[in-house]
Amino acid sequence: MEKELIIILDFGGQYSQQIARRVRECNVYCQVLPYHTSIDKIKEKAPKGFIFTGGAIDASSQPSLTCDPDIYNLGVPILGICYNGKPGKDISPITTMEDPINNLFGVQLGPDEEDNSKGSIFLKNFLYKTCGCSGKWNMSSFVERSIEELKEKIGDRKVLCALSGGVDSSVAAVMISKSVGKQLTCIFVDHGLLRKNEGDEVEEIFTKQFDVNLIRVNAQDRFYSKLAGVTDPERKRKIIGEEFIRVFEEESKKIGRVDYLVQGTIYPDVIESGIGNSAGIKSHHNVGGLPDYVDFKEIIEPLRDLFKDEVRKAGLVLGIPENLVFRQPFPGPGLAVRIIGDITPDKVRILQDADHIYREEVAKAGLDRYISQYFAVLTNIRSVGVKNDERTYDYTVALRAVKTTDFMTANYVELPWEVLGKVSERIVKEVDHVNRICYDITGKPPATIEWE
Ligand code: XMP
Repeated sequence: MEKELIIILDFGGQYSQQIARRVRECNVYCQVLPYHTSIDKIKEKAPKGFIFTGGAIDASSQPSLTCDPDIYNLGVPILGICYNGKPGKDISPITTMEDPINNLFGVQLGPDEEDNSKGSIFLKNFLYKTCGCSGKWNMSSFVERSIEELKEKIGDRKVLCALSGGVDSSVAAVMISKSVGKQLTCIFVDHGLLRKNEGDEVEEIFTKQFDVNLIRVNAQDRFYSKLAGVTDPERKRKIIGEEFIRVFEEESKKIGRVDYLVQGTIYPDVIESGIGNSAGIKSHHNVGGLPDYVDFKEIIEPLRDLFKDEVRKAGLVLGIPENLVFRQPFPGPGLAVRIIGDITPDKVRILQDADHIYREEVAKAGLDRYISQYFAVLTNIRSVGVKNDERTYDYTVALRAVKTTDFMTANYVELPWEVLGKVSERIVKEVDHVNRICYDITGKPPATIEWE
């Protein structure tokens, strides 16, 4: 299929990502580039159209940011969305107009509105009629093409991937494995702080379903002994991060030099770290600084053009099971941030069991896809209770469920009483050493999503 690309030229402002999403929803592939991108780089990409967004007019009514003027001579259509000004001429934001000389359009589309049918028709007209895009881009074709491109790029060289079992690294790993098979080695460090059965599930999917070259490192005891007696949350994180690197380093040394290291960087990471500048190394909380310790030539980021929901779609296209593809976010340090106070293997087991029951009941009630993140927390509170006519002195488990779009702010979810009641009943009955359940009804802010 012919490569059809729309370039969104970003002059600042907040809309470039939403516009990119709208364009892709019209089945046209697009990339956001900074306004100062060189004409050579743009020519190389051979776009079928541009969308300009952002920008500001200075005191003398001139646009303060300008792109390479040669862009106007390419004969490629340009649409302005929430765009302020162009060299020598402003655009009225409300009226739709066509400038036959510069081939420039200006229109107010309101890219952030979900139901913007006029804007959507206008955008489609621009993409299909003005730019001549076919609107055939979809995730299957993207995945297919990526696999071919990766095959060509990697050749017969060796690739290494740190697999966390999260969505991004899993999709990246499967994509590369489909390209180069056993030239890819995945290292999966089980630090003993995963959710119940998670380590086995990850291993099963990658070895049985995808036949990936997977090294699972069962490092649970190493992590538990390093964490013994540590109560400060920041120290716990640091210990886990450092130990993770050590384990990864030991394993990767056994493999020797590799040519490529896979990173599950996705598009929002690229944009956040400054478009146009290299995204650098994804600062993954749990594998901080990893590349310093691994002998590799180049980083490979097969998902760097995709939004999170697109990564999930790619995962489904690749045949990754839905429960992994729609997995909720899980912090790198795992259950360590959900056990208040010191960590022991017993506490990990208690939390894993309680959390498993909670997730099972929420899923049974059909609410799992509606909630952004939900989990159990083992508070460090113990209190008196009664079980089988005997006095107990056991833990309180807290349940949390939030709805959010960006995880920067969040609302607590009003879970139905019946669901909460069932979860509570099951946990105190089935999990030893828990005799009390609380539900967290705090938003973020002032609370955070995790308890730690
Ligand atoms: P907070 O608790 O800060 O969490 O409101 C916001 C989101 O970030 C996730 N989180 C992490 N993710 N490594 C991660 O990959 C971490 O160390 C980490 N800590 C928090 C958290 O689960 C929530 O989705």
